Amino acid sequence: MAPPSLVVEEIYTFYGLSQVLFGVSLEVAPGECVCLLGRNGVGKTTTMRSIMGLTPARRGRVVWRGRDITSKAPYQIARAGIGFVPEDRRIFADLTVWENLDVAGRRRGGAGWTVDRVFDLFPKLSELVDRQGGFLSGGEQQMLTIARTLMGNPELLLLDEPSEGLAPLVVEHLKEQIGRLKSQGLTILLAEQNVGFCLDLADRVYVLEKGQIRYRPRLCAREGADPLSRHGPRVPGGRVHPPPVPRALSHSRVIASIGNLTNGPGCSRAGSDRRDRQPGCPSRGTEA
Ligand SMILES: Nc1ncnc2c1ncn2[C@@H]1O[C@H](COP(=O)(O)OP(=O)(O)OP(=O)(O)O)[C@@H](O)[C@H]1O
Ligand SMILES: [Mg+2]
Repeated sequence: MAPPSLVVEEIYTFYGLSQVLFGVSLEVAPGECVCLLGRNGVGKTTTMRSIMGLTPARRGRVVWRGRDITSKAPYQIARAGIGFVPEDRRIFADLTVWENLDVAGRRRGGAGWTVDRVFDLFPKLSELVDRQGGFLSGGEQQMLTIARTLMGNPELLLLDEPSEGLAPLVVEHLKEQIGRLKSQGLTILLAEQNVGFCLDLADRVYVLEKGQIRYRPRLCAREGADPLSRHGPRVPGGRVHPPPVPRALSHSRVIASIGNLTNGPGCSRAGSDRRDRQPGCPSRGTEA
């Protein structure tokens, strides 16, 4: 497994005097779908905003493909290949579906997304090309927001609670589309509080609580994989991390982890369940 392309190193983020993140660290390797799971108000959006430079971290670093982007402007970070799908969607209500996509088009780099390609991913949008964004349903708006971000040809997609406020059938449909993006090799960081949605898609799951990572998945690979994986990829800062997990964690394991978090510090048994252990991976994660 390649070294992580995104490394968030102990970031502390504030809104004015109000501190929201307390040393959040995470890594995302190329082609991975990593989920940041947590309840309302724990700092999922703030973590994404910090990565995107919208609310820069006051301490700590965000490193993208080996470059420190902590103090870069959002437009520079977007140009560097990170696309952000915000939870409030922010489509242009007065523009049509076609116009929303056209203004977001970026010729350079990435996977060469075109309007035709995003219509192939979201066929429903092709039936709505002339409809104004403000007249779309919640699910259609979510598809348009993802499609619009893809038009910028990102290498990493930050998806902030895409399932929020959508009907169960629409959520299922959206999950399939995001699964297709993942299978096409797009790197994804997904913020969610919908456990099922997150676990069906994610290769690894971090659990965030009160601005701190409370469950940290190990990067762990199958035996015989990339020799780097035995020792863990090196990341900026010189720390050595363990290798990546081959597939998603089980529902029971993460639900147990979250449940235990409610019982206060020191109660979580995440990382101690032997049933989920993989060959060559002594433990899938650790309480942070
Ligand atoms: N602009 C802001 N100014 C001050 N405080 C803010 C601001 N935005 C968010 N917060 C606070 O920061 C904390 C974390 O908010 P954040 O939106 O990151 O959480 P979240 O995990 O994304 O929650 P949700 O699941 O509801 O989207 C909350 O207590 C919130 O009230
Ligand atoms: Mg949020």
